[in-house]
Amino acid sequence: MGGRTRIITIACAKGGAAKTTTAMLLAGSLAKRGLTVAVLDADNTGGATKWAETVEDAAFEAEATGRTARRLPFAVTPINQALLDRRRVEARHPGAWVIIDTPPSDTGTIQKAIDIGDVTVIPTQTGAADLTLAGETYAACARAIVLLTRVKRRTRSARQAVEDLDSAGITRFDTLIPEREAIRAAYGTAVTDVAYAEAATELVDFMRGMERASETEGE
Ligand SMILES: Nc1ncnc2c1ncn2[C@@H]1O[C@H](COP(=O)(O)OP(=O)(O)O)[C@@H](O)[C@H]1O
Ligand SMILES: [Mg+2]
Repeated sequence: MGGRTRIITIACAKGGAAKTTTAMLLAGSLAKRGLTVAVLDADNTGGATKWAETVEDAAFEAEATGRTARRLPFAVTPINQALLDRRRVEARHPGAWVIIDTPPSDTGTIQKAIDIGDVTVIPTQTGAADLTLAGETYAACARAIVLLTRVKRRTRSARQAVEDLDSAGITRFDTLIPEREAIRAAYGTAVTDVAYAEAATELVDFMRGMERASETEGE
């Protein structure tokens, strides 16, 4: 994996789809693999930024009392639509895996983040209404992968969601992110989760495949 910058946009037209959770835990899992990672927070409510600040506050307090500080293995930087420029992001983050977290409803910002990315990861819950909105985001992307989140195992809605995506020919992660208290509790901490580690492996494989295909095309 050479010096190119990769931009992965996390987007879904639905609030509460686990965008911010996905951005932060995927970033943590990619960093754990030894990759250079940066998160850009394009949601002006600042969920990812506040998450990172909470980790930083706890780290300062730990250091002040002589305990070991746990820090995120990547920086989170707020960004707005005017600064969402592919070349600028590449110049600021050479060779990095850049994850962009997006707001749920500011369509201008969402589309800009999608357009400058290599791929969009679309987290969505399994309900029919959720899938419809995820489908709208999918249609706005040149290249996207749907990630089913907050999945309740062995439920009808989980099986149905997988079936619906597959029969519609929509690219998805094999990994299903389960509804898990430990994931909910990850907010404001530097922990990752095994399901997101698996999704990170899939994402790296997907990117490698995509890059190989475009290199062959260019020959
Ligand atoms: N796999 C999960 N299991 C349990 N709770 C989750 C999971 N993923 C996300 N959540 C919770 O769902 C809520 C919405 O997630 P969030 O990442 O903020 O979504 P978004 O950024 O799309 O609005 C948060 O309270 C988060 O902790
Ligand atoms: Mg969010």
